[in-house]
Amino acid sequence: MPVANVGDLRLNYAERGSGPVLLLVHGFPLDHSMWSGQMEPLSATHRVIATDLRGFGASSVTAGTATMAQFADDLAGLLDALQITQPVIFCGLSMGGYVAWQFALRHRGRLAKLILADTRAIADSPDAAAGRLKTAEKVLAEGAQVVADAMLPKLFAPEAPAKQPAIVAATKAVMLKTSPVGIAAALRGMAEREDFSSRLSEFNVPALVICGQHDAIAPPAEMRGIAEKLPQGKYVEIAGAGHMAPLEDPAEVNRAIADFARG
Ligand code: MLT
Repeated sequence: MPVANVGDLRLNYAERGSGPVLLLVHGFPLDHSMWSGQMEPLSATHRVIATDLRGFGASSVTAGTATMAQFADDLAGLLDALQITQPVIFCGLSMGGYVAWQFALRHRGRLAKLILADTRAIADSPDAAAGRLKTAEKVLAEGAQVVADAMLPKLFAPEAPAKQPAIVAATKAVMLKTSPVGIAAALRGMAEREDFSSRLSEFNVPALVICGQHDAIAPPAEMRGIAEKLPQGKYVEIAGAGHMAPLEDPAEVNRAIADFARG
């Protein structure tokens, strides 16, 4: 897979197709492979790019805190490295959505449309943030298994382990091979992320909000509310899917993305 040099970082990315750019940004603690069901179908009409954020997949790992703003700036750097000057469709899932808010504000001129999948606008409560900081220390001491055990039961619709064991196993494998240092940095970054829940009117750009019906992390009622408050928001719910809707039901998610990209 290709690698782009962005400052001191090496960012790993997958790329397919040509045309308007669709940038796919993964959730925590995953990598570009969570978009495996999107790359081929959506490349019929788009140049689809799915990257590993710093600290994840095969990209460089940096210690300390990886803020959502830093991830967004890394992605702007990736677009520079690929000499992409046209505005892109930015699609982020969960943590990738936290990055999307930052990208939209910090790199407005580079954004054509926004897709927010299974994500939240609200910041962590003080308790949730403290819990993340504790988890970061635990992961550094004990390894990635700590987050795999905590996250896996929340990621998929209740029936997925029986009906879609391959995607559950693949997701677990990605988590287990993720760097504990990268995981801890992102946990610290998520703990201090900004609250955009009362600032959604600032995101005046065509926006698609996608949510799995059984999402336990970013529930449908909350996501529908985000879509309603976005000046140009549109909401699509993926029946039967959980937090990992793009993996669980790629056909429906791709249909929603393709319709929105075309419109
Ligand atoms: C994700 O899927 O990226 C995480 O659930 C985000 C989070 O922990 O808030």
